[in-house]
Amino acid sequence: MCGIVGYIGAKQAYPILIKGLRRLEYRGYDSAGVAMISQRGALNVYKTKGKVDNLTDYCTDKDVSGSIGIAHTRWATHGEPSARNAHPHYSQSHNLAIIHNGIIENYADIKAKLQEKGVAFASDTDTEVLVQLVEYIMSNRSLTLLEAVQTALFQVIGAYAIAIIDKREPTQIIVARKQSPLVVGIGESEFFIASDASPIIDYTDKVVYLEDGNIAVIRLGEELKVMGIHGEEQELKVKKVDLNLGQIEKGGYEHFMLKEIFEQPECLTNCMRGRINVEGNQVTLSALIDHHQQLLGAKRIVIVACGTSWHAGLIGKQLIESLCRIPCEVEYASEFRYRNPVVSKDDVVIAISQSGETADTLAAIQLAKEQGAFIYGICNAIGSSIPRATDTGTYIHVGPEIGVASTKAFTGQVTVLSMLALCMANKLGTISIERYRQMVSELTCIPKKMEQALQANEEIKHLARIFTYAKNCLYLGRGYNYPVALEGALKLKEISYIHAEGYPAAEMKHGPIALIDSEMPVFVIATRDRLYEKVISNIQEVRARGGRVTALITEGDEQIKQYADHVIELPDTLECFQPLIASIPLQLLAYHIAVCKGKDVDRPRNLAKSVTVE
Ligand code: F6R
Repeated sequence: MCGIVGYIGAKQAYPILIKGLRRLEYRGYDSAGVAMISQRGALNVYKTKGKVDNLTDYCTDKDVSGSIGIAHTRWATHGEPSARNAHPHYSQSHNLAIIHNGIIENYADIKAKLQEKGVAFASDTDTEVLVQLVEYIMSNRSLTLLEAVQTALFQVIGAYAIAIIDKREPTQIIVARKQSPLVVGIGESEFFIASDASPIIDYTDKVVYLEDGNIAVIRLGEELKVMGIHGEEQELKVKKVDLNLGQIEKGGYEHFMLKEIFEQPECLTNCMRGRINVEGNQVTLSALIDHHQQLLGAKRIVIVACGTSWHAGLIGKQLIESLCRIPCEVEYASEFRYRNPVVSKDDVVIAISQSGETADTLAAIQLAKEQGAFIYGICNAIGSSIPRATDTGTYIHVGPEIGVASTKAFTGQVTVLSMLALCMANKLGTISIERYRQMVSELTCIPKKMEQALQANEEIKHLARIFTYAKNCLYLGRGYNYPVALEGALKLKEISYIHAEGYPAAEMKHGPIALIDSEMPVFVIATRDRLYEKVISNIQEVRARGGRVTALITEGDEQIKQYADHVIELPDTLECFQPLIASIPLQLLAYHIAVCKGKDVDRPRNLAKSVTVE
């Protein structure tokens, strides 16, 4: 959460910083700010509540000159969203300015001590405490900025990616990271910093991903210097970023979310490329070649994840148990990390994360590692923290997901879990070779079937108008479609702010059925599978209580048409791959309802794309 950007070089910093903030706005957008050191040596800080556009409006008549600067887009943790709490924060003398992504957990203690010494604070944030502490250390112990940052970071408990500038040293930026991402881009006599590589790729493809505990000194005219926590110099690991502009632009769509929904067939093709052979009947995952002993020897698999990734995990559990016959549990990473779980060295822990930066998932990995489990990561963001913390893993390769509501990452995660379960089942001999080949072949047909499902877009757009004024919605599904119901409800909640619940259809009669009346739209995933007849009974129960049913059905199914108020037809596939198809109309429905309600689909209130705080 929170996006940070910085520049030092010969160009004007402000346009680079603003462009970078726009790229990172998905990480937080309740306030934004910039700090530049002008040619005359002034350290100018400008900040506003709201999105980056508010900041640029505010800056139109301000001095934004300078070729060194830092900028921030915020997702509030400590202190309400306001200009006063927005970053950058000055130190008391206004000599220093800082931007920060993360949480300083012991900020209250440090703040109280500094206040006793007479330091006055201008915000309610944990971040300001850090810059005031650095200044206090610098002036009381006559240390350089670098030494003071090092000393201050020893006193700080929590997570951070920071960048700090000093107007007395206008050719230097000091940055540091612990549990929050930070990338340094290396150009020709210029440097860029950012929370991810997207603001950097216009200028250079050479980057250094800082590791936890790293401090870097970025000085004009010198090589980038990266140090460990005690000042020990680190080898510079320069990487080439493999990201192009097309991947992070809207490509003619009104919103990133819509673009990402529509690119799913292509994304899944990319996800399977090189992993399923051209004949379409054999899966190979390099992680399973390199680590077959640990993976195939698992006595138990535990999946840890949050939000949408947790929903993908629920589908993964069903795939793994039914195909590989290995017991599998799915845990919210945030609960797992704090409940003293039983984990052993015979366990494989699968961590699923789009961003690869989710703080709770990272902490769950750490805990499982300490207890000897083998860790397998399923991530999207290349080079992010989770793939680096795991023993092995598989990237989903669906390209950058910018829309805050996850869509293509979900289907990418389910695709990787399907390939993993199939590959393991084949090696373990828990499915027949014929069944294995048939399933792999069907998986390769999913992108085509997704294209077919996407053709219902106009029909769903029309349907969406009917539900725009709903106050509550219920989503029902069974088996593999139960996580799809959860995911459909989550999508609606996050972007349209309509209350929605996902439920296993048969559980409805144990409570939620009391909610059903003519005001309650009920979306039922009722594709032809083992539980089809039972789901029909659940639909009847809803109808009998006046509920309005929209059913997602297998194409050609005439039976459900008699009972449902509306139907959306889906191409048929194997039951276990149905989530890949059935999630599409629910993504589109949430999208169009939110658009009808005039909501900011790509930047829903209170959310951030990458949840780097616990
Ligand atoms: C919902 C959504 C979130 C994320 C969750 C985990 O649309 O995007 O629920 O799935 O915050 O994020 P990652 O997958 O990055 O660990």
